[in-house]
Amino acid sequence: MAATTPLYDTYLRAPLRFERGEGVWLVAEDGTRYLDFAAGVAVNSLGHAHPHLVEALKGQAEKLWHVSNLYDVPGQESLARRLTAVTFADRVFFTNSGAEALECAIKTARRYHFAKGHPERFHVITFEGAFHGRTIATIAAGGQQKYIEGFGPKAPGFYQVPFGDIAAVKNAINDETAAILIEPIQGEGGIRLAPKAFMQELRALCDEYGLLLILDEVQCGVGRTGKLFAHEWAGITPDIMAVAKGIGGGFPLGACLATEAAAAGMVAGTHGSTYGGNPLAMAVGNAVLDVVLAEGFLDNIRDVALVFRQGLASLKDRFPDVIEEIRGDGLMLGIKAKVPSADFLKAIRAEKLLVVPAGENVLRLLPPLITTAAEAREGLARLERAAETVRTNSGTAAA
Ligand SMILES: Cc1ncc(COP(=O)(O)O)c(C=O)c1O
Repeated sequence: MAATTPLYDTYLRAPLRFERGEGVWLVAEDGTRYLDFAAGVAVNSLGHAHPHLVEALKGQAEKLWHVSNLYDVPGQESLARRLTAVTFADRVFFTNSGAEALECAIKTARRYHFAKGHPERFHVITFEGAFHGRTIATIAAGGQQKYIEGFGPKAPGFYQVPFGDIAAVKNAINDETAAILIEPIQGEGGIRLAPKAFMQELRALCDEYGLLLILDEVQCGVGRTGKLFAHEWAGITPDIMAVAKGIGGGFPLGACLATEAAAAGMVAGTHGSTYGGNPLAMAVGNAVLDVVLAEGFLDNIRDVALVFRQGLASLKDRFPDVIEEIRGDGLMLGIKAKVPSADFLKAIRAEKLLVVPAGENVLRLLPPLITTAAEAREGLARLERAAETVRTNSGTAAA
């Protein structure tokens, strides 16, 4: 039988087709406007068609699209200088995606120990519920059977322990351990926050055992929590960090950041990427930083986050039969539903609001970082109407 589409069937797509975007709005082919609190799953950090990003991309497109990494790429130098100036990092490798940033992070950690004469130290401790991408190594790091199954033997060297369980981490450390890898806030796992004390304990364990702390800030980084990077809330720094999504504002861009010491093994020839650090991506990445690093931008995220927090808390109080818990930080929020989250999602979409499903029956709100308080309230009103719909449909109010 002929397939209805020549595309792989790997995505369960909703029957929605968008034609253009304007700020926090997406406009479908039939003209319907959707409030986009999914933001490409935390990608469209500055919303859609942000004028500064459009100008940066157009300006670069007229000059030069691509040069090989056999030559200097000035945009890489400037973006890397700016990133290192505002983070723990001394070195940066640019990629096209989150999974590639993670691959680079894992390779960096392994090479660090290799260069020190310990090739046996290549094991990475990761956490249950994690998501680090879809490459052969990152599905092993994420450890979720549903992503690993059928793709041959699981890549060796990844050991999972329960999220937040410091005793289990300690138990898992041995002479072959190279690093600990964690998302400060698990995204796909269901907006699960690593407690600050846990992050601090991980840092201390890494220092005690000579391990590298790798943070996956692909989803929670670049302003999403109201700090430039989520780990800043815990007052710690990693040795290596993977970044993507928000840093490109919709243009494919990722980065692996590392301290000078951690990156010591990554000498000429050890890693590479044809497109990583492409001039177009660098122009957009620099433009994203212009906006995110501007004075007051992160403060504004925190203010709008408060509007969401208060509104969601009130929704939970009014709909205890629909909403079990509100999770998250900044503009990375989760609604753990009491009803099947797919039903709630359907009702939310009927209100022309876009959110993203996650693990543990959670719906994620990942609005663009430019969302205003008024737009937040509009989204909350739509959520309320959706909650009323699922309540009516499931008859839970009477229960
Ligand atoms: C925390 C985290 N790490 C890694 C990835 C993989 O990023 P990409 O899909 O760009 O490869 C994702 C994507 O959702 C993510 O949320």
